[in-house]
Amino acid sequence: MVGTETFKGAKMVAKKIAAERAVENIREGMTVGLGSGSTAYYMIERIGEKVKQGLKIKTVASSVRSEDLARKFNIPTFPVSAVGGIDIAIDGADEVDEKGNLMKGGGGSLLREKILAFASTLFFVIIDGSKLVDHLGRRPVPVEITPFGAALTLQHLRALGCDPSIRKTEGNNFISDNGNMVVDCKFQTIEDPAWLDMEIKIIPGVVETGLFSKKIVTSIFVGYDNGEVIERYPQGK
Ligand code: 5RP
Repeated sequence: MVGTETFKGAKMVAKKIAAERAVENIREGMTVGLGSGSTAYYMIERIGEKVKQGLKIKTVASSVRSEDLARKFNIPTFPVSAVGGIDIAIDGADEVDEKGNLMKGGGGSLLREKILAFASTLFFVIIDGSKLVDHLGRRPVPVEITPFGAALTLQHLRALGCDPSIRKTEGNNFISDNGNMVVDCKFQTIEDPAWLDMEIKIIPGVVETGLFSKKIVTSIFVGYDNGEVIERYPQGK
């Protein structure tokens, strides 16, 4: 038990230092996209400290949870419709492959996260070393779908060769901030994430997938429990 707690603690440190390193890229006057999840928590906390010290920025959040957190830390947040563009978005990931492609959506905020990342001039990913994989697919791909026609959408997802499972929370269907469901689709190793993303998104009823192309990634800050943070860059953009 003590061993498990130590491991978890080390992981938290790795997440925190990666998040803090990414925050160093934020400059006065920027509009910042706030990601979601436990690593993003440390990023928002650090931004809160900087705002307290006088940093003037605008932020837009990728989830209700992150928006609440930003408010808690007195960070100015705006609805996405109120910002002209995003200078920098910072977010966690569930898996990052050798080329810099991402699997996201563990927390179910994939649609808003992808909208912010895609709209952002710079997109920084913050992870601990355990998120690095050779190929994506160790975890299921989160897919946000409309409740209307969900059974049909699931049939089409199955036909792509995955084993889809509707995400539940406390026995009920998980409902995203957008009022949609999330289906976790277990594929074998994913050799071509861009192709798979396209194949899934052709299905009517699919709103978004948790596969994020390396093309929108600026760099990836990987924290390690020895206190080291390594910045990696996407390959062959
Ligand atoms: C939420 C996400 C998160 O960024 C991802 O799940 C990583 O979370 P954590 O930092 O807690 O490991 O995509 O939808």
